Amino acid sequence: MRLTVIGTGYLGATHAACMAELGHDVLGVDVDPEKVAALSAGRVPFHEPGLPELIAKHTASGRLRFTTSFAEAGAFGEVHFVCVGTPQRADSGAADLGHVDAAFAALAAHAAPDALVVGKSTVPVGTAERLARTYATEVAWNPEFLREGFAVEDTLRPDRLVFGVESARAETILRAVYAPVLAAGTPLVTADFPTAELVKTAANAFLATKISFINAMAEVCEAAGGDVRTLAEALGHDDRIGPKFLRAGIGFGGGCLPKDIRAFAHRADELGVPLTFLREVDAINMRRRDRVVELARELCGPDVLGARVTVLGAAFKPGSDDIRDSPALAVAARLRLEGADVTVHDPEAMDNARKAFPLLGYALSLEDALRGADLVLHLTEWPQFRAIDPERAAALVARPRIVDGRGVLDADRWAAAGWRLWALGTPAPVGEGH
Ligand code: UDX
Repeated sequence: MRLTVIGTGYLGATHAACMAELGHDVLGVDVDPEKVAALSAGRVPFHEPGLPELIAKHTASGRLRFTTSFAEAGAFGEVHFVCVGTPQRADSGAADLGHVDAAFAALAAHAAPDALVVGKSTVPVGTAERLARTYATEVAWNPEFLREGFAVEDTLRPDRLVFGVESARAETILRAVYAPVLAAGTPLVTADFPTAELVKTAANAFLATKISFINAMAEVCEAAGGDVRTLAEALGHDDRIGPKFLRAGIGFGGGCLPKDIRAFAHRADELGVPLTFLREVDAINMRRRDRVVELARELCGPDVLGARVTVLGAAFKPGSDDIRDSPALAVAARLRLEGADVTVHDPEAMDNARKAFPLLGYALSLEDALRGADLVLHLTEWPQFRAIDPERAAALVARPRIVDGRGVLDADRWAAAGWRLWALGTPAPVGEGH
C-alpha cells in the first residue's frame, strides 16, 4: 500500500521505517526541511537503537522517502498516519493540538477524497470525532505505545493493536496495513473513537501511577526505616502486581508520561470527572527530585555552595538521548542555582543537555566527570554507571560520597570501597566516606 506518515519525530520516523519494513511504500512528511534532508540521507537526528539501520535499508531500497510537500503527500497516499507532537500548553497543562490540526487541515486540502487519515498522536478524548467533523475526512484512531529505546521492536512486535474506527472500511484498511503484525498473532482491540483515544491516556496514567505508588512507598521506607528495593522485590512476586514499573527512584520524566497525565487530568476536569489522584501522582513524582537535592545537602554539609557535584546521567532514562523533562537535569540545574559547581556526564545525551542547559559543566569521559568531585549523584541508570568500579572511582574523587537516585548500585560493595552511599528509598546512608 502507499502510506504517508506526517511528522518525523520519534514516533513518526519509527512508524515510517517500520511500515516500509512491513512492505509498504512510505512517504514521510515533515515541515522541517533539515529533518527531511537528514532522514533522506539515512541519518536519524536522535538516538534510537535499530532505527538508523532500518531507515538506511529502506531509503536505499526506495520504499521509504521523505518530503516537506503536503501536495506530494496528498497525491501519493492511500492512507495517511498523523504522528505529530501534542506538547503541553504552558498556561493550563492541556495538550496543544496545533500541530494535529495543521496536519489534518493540510491533508483535507490535498488528500484524495477516499483517503483514510489515521491519527496516532496522543490526544485528549473527543479529538478524533471533532477532527472528522471539522475536516470532513474519513478518520481512524490508532494509538501507539512505543517506548523510547525499544521503538522499533514495540512497533513491529507490539503487545496489542488498537483500532478506533467508525466504519467497516476503515477497519479493513487498517487490517491490511498491519497484516503481517496481525498474522504474527498480535491481539487486536477494535473500539469506538473515545475508547481508542482513552486506551493510550489510561495506559500512561496507569504506568505513572505504578511508579509513583512505589515512590510513595519509598517515602514511607525512608521515614520508617525500611528498604524500598526489597519491598518492591517482594511485591513484584505477586502475579497480580508484577515486577515491571516498580522501580523506585528519582521518578519518571520524558516526553510522554509527565505531560500526558497532566493533559488527562485537565481533560477529565473538563468532562466533570476530576481525576484528583493524578495530581498526587504528579506531586509524588516531583517530590523525588526535591529529595535528591535534600540528600545532596545532607551529604555535603549545611549546603552545597561551592561543592563540586558530578551528575551521572542527563537522559530521562537509559538507552535514550532524550532530555525532555529529565529528572537528572532538573536536579543538576537546581544544585547549580544553589551555588554548586555541577558537572554532567551522559553516554548519549550530552549535546542535547548542553543546548538546553548551557550553564552546567560537562565532562566528555566518565573519568573526567568523577575527578575531584565532592559528591556524585547517580541519576540515570545507564549500564556504564552500574559497571563503575567503586574502588577506582574512589581514587578519582575528592570525597567518596554518592546519592543513588535509581537504587541500583550495590550499596555494600560501594561502602566496602570507602564510599558513603545514600540510596533513595532507604532511611540513612551506608559506609563511612570522608
Ligand atoms: C512511555 C510509555 O512506556 C510508552 O508506552 C508510551 O508510548 C510513551 O511513554 P517512554 O517515555 O519511552 O515510554 O519511557 P518509559 O520506559 O515508560 O519510562 C518513563 C519514565 O519512567 C522514565 O523516566 C523511567 O526512568 C521511569 N521509570 C520507569 C521509573 O522511574 N521506574 C520504573 O519502574 C519504570
